[in-house]
Amino acid sequence: MQQNDKKTHQLTVSNVFKEFGNIEVLRNISFSFSAGQSIAITGPSGSGKSTLLHILGTLEKPTKGKIKINETDPFNLSEPELARYRNSVIGFVFQDHHLLPQYSVLENVLIPTLAFKQDPNATQYAQELIKRVGLMDRMSHRPAELSGGERQRVAIARALINRPSILLCDEPTGNLDNVTSMNIANLLFEMHKSENNILIVVTHNHELASRFQNHLRLVEGVCSDETNNSDNQLL
Ligand SMILES: Nc1ncnc2c1ncn2[C@@H]1O[C@H](COP(=O)(O)OP(=O)(O)OP(=O)(O)O)[C@@H](O)[C@H]1O
Ligand SMILES: [Mg+2]
Repeated sequence: MQQNDKKTHQLTVSNVFKEFGNIEVLRNISFSFSAGQSIAITGPSGSGKSTLLHILGTLEKPTKGKIKINETDPFNLSEPELARYRNSVIGFVFQDHHLLPQYSVLENVLIPTLAFKQDPNATQYAQELIKRVGLMDRMSHRPAELSGGERQRVAIARALINRPSILLCDEPTGNLDNVTSMNIANLLFEMHKSENNILIVVTHNHELASRFQNHLRLVEGVCSDETNNSDNQLL
């Protein structure tokens, strides 16, 4: 499989605002991260964390401001180009796995490869990822036959199948007990290290947030850099 040029992974957010109607949800957000960096985003409910993640994932357009991923402004692309771009550059993991119930573990992991890439090695790579997330012997199981933690493992493998530059996770351990959460977090960091992507995780978990190199906190749509603040407040 073709490797991304991993050294070039770069995400830049410049003066991003997002309004829904007359509600200002994100206010003047700017930051920049590159390959190998991990970022936790925390903040109270309703502070705009998911909205920011959707913008970073090119699912939602900012009202004002720009994002740039690997020198491309995704919002300058046409809709079909953007869909293709998103598919190859972004990986998503949600709180609630979003696996397709009628498909097996292997099929779920392969779904992002079906739309655009015709990679003859996709199945082999999917099997490798499934092995790395510890589910070798669950390859043909359906999501209903898995535990919550196992489903999140599948969701992580699926998010990585196209070797994304950026892995975005919205409360990926939100529905899991503490031990399982830490196992999932370990897996995320392990995969992040080997893939050298940019890992961005929204979390309410203090212990988890403290393990990231960088910590951004959102309060009422305003983002502050809490990386070196030892009195981090979390909600
Ligand atoms: N599509 C939308 N249309 C209108 N308002 C929206 C939309 N999406 C989000 N909002 C509003 O934007 C604000 C931020 O929502 P967001 O989902 O980003 O919060 P959050 O920080 O992820 O919260 P939580 O921790 O509860 O998941 C909320 O007040 C929400 O009602
Ligand atoms: Mg949210």
